[in-house]
Amino acid sequence: MTFVTHLECTRCARHYEAGQPHNLCQCGGPLYVRYDLAAARREFSRDAVAAGPKTMWRYSGVLPSQTPVSLGEGLTPMIHATRLGAKYATDSLYVKDEGLNPTGSFKARGLSCAISMVRELGVKKVAIPSAGNAASALAAYAAAAGIESHIFMPKDVPLANYAECVSFGAHVTLVDGLISDCGRIVAERGPKEGWFDVSTLKEPYRIEGKKTMGYEVAEQFGWTLPEAIFYPTGGGVGLIGMWKAFDEMETMGWLPKGGPRPKMIAVQSAGCAPIVRAFENGEAQSEFWQGAATMASGLRVPKPLGDFLILDYVRASGGTCISITDEEIRAAIDELGAAEGIFAAPEGAACVTAYRKLRDSGFLKAADKVVLFNTGSGLKYLDMLDIKMAKAR
Ligand SMILES: Cc1ncc(COP(=O)(O)O)c(C=O)c1O
Ligand SMILES: [Zn+2]
Repeated sequence: MTFVTHLECTRCARHYEAGQPHNLCQCGGPLYVRYDLAAARREFSRDAVAAGPKTMWRYSGVLPSQTPVSLGEGLTPMIHATRLGAKYATDSLYVKDEGLNPTGSFKARGLSCAISMVRELGVKKVAIPSAGNAASALAAYAAAAGIESHIFMPKDVPLANYAECVSFGAHVTLVDGLISDCGRIVAERGPKEGWFDVSTLKEPYRIEGKKTMGYEVAEQFGWTLPEAIFYPTGGGVGLIGMWKAFDEMETMGWLPKGGPRPKMIAVQSAGCAPIVRAFENGEAQSEFWQGAATMASGLRVPKPLGDFLILDYVRASGGTCISITDEEIRAAIDELGAAEGIFAAPEGAACVTAYRKLRDSGFLKAADKVVLFNTGSGLKYLDMLDIKMAKAR
């Protein structure tokens, strides 16, 4: 059961037919999948969700594919972080642990959905520029679907990402540059090679997979939303997707029309913070961040394509943007680990420091129910963490 009607440009609102492969709009804007939500409201219910599979495909009525390529993605735990919360005098802190997804990150959601659609639309070869985790996820789902994948990553990606891609049989190229350089190569070579480009927001379906995080937050809180959501923002697709999910749930009557909505907090690394800078300068779009460098490799996105959407939604939500240094991130990994038994990716750990800072500043109160997104597992970053084993005795 799907209620997809068409695709719609996020910039100029031009419509495109569903059922065909699409990348960006003619105007360069990313496309959204649109649904007949009035029909979905009648025929797809929260009870149907509860009776569905224990994966993100339980929201199939508001997903585009009817033939999922699934490895068990989604429906990750919402952990009540009581011991971490106690440090900050709150009982209202939660961690959504996306590290439990296939390939150890939330990227599985987007790529499960994108590859399901790629297969349905008859595409045979895909290509992706990636900071690392999206590549691992793409390679896994492409392998599961029997689709050829071509991957371009910076040469200093975490070793785990490289190892997974190779093991999944992908064609891997390491690039002496950033994800933006990888994106340029895919854009140049793709048309000649017959590759379908699954870059962040350059095809409409990854966001549909990632929006399920928004549905899950609501479902796991008994169809209510928290006061704030901290989201480590590189390309920003998770944040954008969750906002889309909140819109859809309101239209279907699953959430009260007109809110309340969580404050969306975009967390970036001090070594690459184009969204924070644009937010602080009151700009509608970001500018390319020169010399991007951070251990949080997923946040090393110098100029996100969806910057205008991220900034729009953060502002509409009454949220904010904040950057965290690598030193703070490194300490936060151990803070979250020791308090909750969650070995977080650097990107997720950044949210812990961001939370502390926004409590210190008074932006958030102890009573505010808050979700921190740990977007990946720390196990994927062992080579980046500079861990020395104790000597044997
Ligand atoms: C672990 C992790 N967290 C966060 C991000 C940023 O994701 P998004 O593009 O949705 O902002 C990435 C992207 O690579 C990532 O791998
Ligand atoms: Zn357009």
